[in-house]
Amino acid sequence: MTWFSSPAQAADRLAAAGYLADAATATTSFLAGALEKPLLLEGPAGVGKTELAKAVSRATGAELVRLQCYEGLDEARALYEWNYKKQLLAIQAYGAARAQRGTSTEGNPSHQTQPWNDLDHSIFTEEFLLTRPLLTAIRRDEPTVLLIDEVDKTDIEVEGLLLEVLSDFQVTIPELGTVAATRRPYVVLTSNASRELSEAVKRRCLYLHLDYPDAEREREILQAQVPDLDDKIAEQLVATVGRLRDLELKKAPSIAESVDWARTLIALEIRNLDEKAIGDTLGAVLKHASDQERAVKELRLDGRRKP
Ligand SMILES: Nc1ncnc2c1ncn2[C@@H]1O[C@H](COP(=O)(O)OP(=O)(O)OP(=O)(O)O)[C@@H](O)[C@H]1O
Ligand SMILES: [Mg+2]
Repeated sequence: MTWFSSPAQAADRLAAAGYLADAATATTSFLAGALEKPLLLEGPAGVGKTELAKAVSRATGAELVRLQCYEGLDEARALYEWNYKKQLLAIQAYGAARAQRGTSTEGNPSHQTQPWNDLDHSIFTEEFLLTRPLLTAIRRDEPTVLLIDEVDKTDIEVEGLLLEVLSDFQVTIPELGTVAATRRPYVVLTSNASRELSEAVKRRCLYLHLDYPDAEREREILQAQVPDLDDKIAEQLVATVGRLRDLELKKAPSIAESVDWARTLIALEIRNLDEKAIGDTLGAVLKHASDQERAVKELRLDGRRKP
């Protein structure tokens, strides 16, 4: 499958799926499909990293398989695990059947252990395998977008697990052998850069740093997601958010917060984003008391300088 036929087509199809990509994002999204290389997206919170993977899935009709990373994520949650309960039941059933068959082979030690060895081959089969997102994505015959979200939240050892998947699109299960992808998934990894990812992972990926959009793109995103917002207030909102981002805050407002703010203003039927309106609704954009205090102070100071 060709994911996108050109960067321009990627931009169009992503836009039709509700994601407004800038030139670099469209080009890299196209390349990730064309070169069949995983795409590593890094950047601050709420700039559209996860959303890009979802949009690729919507734009191409491929199913999204998501591995949400967290501290303590292990092989059993990321790749596969054996269904121990089912295996245990199978062993019990097997033991009971043996007991019923009688004691004809008793007294011959080699005959006593042999059948149990055979059991090994029957309980480490497909039937007893629980597949987790990485293996699921590798084995799917249909087009798949594999989202490995917030990869920086995992322990560094998990990156070792990812390497085989990212470079060879395969997974080795000691008891079963190697499972290779019949159809390579479109892989997106996201990271907030809370820690450096290993060079080995980076080398296997295309890299894109996503940042806050420029004012014009942010207005377009707002218009698309909050169509009821009128142009004047959209402009005021984007300008204010831009100023807030320039302050050194603990947590700068993201696109998600701009969208929330726009919805808040509509819900309150606010038609002019003056100082009072900003003060009343700041909780939609800034989530730290110290950030709010700072913003109120700085925005007012600015206002006094430019009455
Ligand atoms: N280019 C864009 N076009 C349309 N909507 C966007 C775009 N970028 C961001 N958004 C909006 O911003 C919201 C937040 O984006 P998303 O959840 O992808 O952020 P993130 O970068 O994954 O953040 P985090 O690091 O916190 O997970 C999305 O739900 C989407 O509505
Ligand atoms: Mg995300």
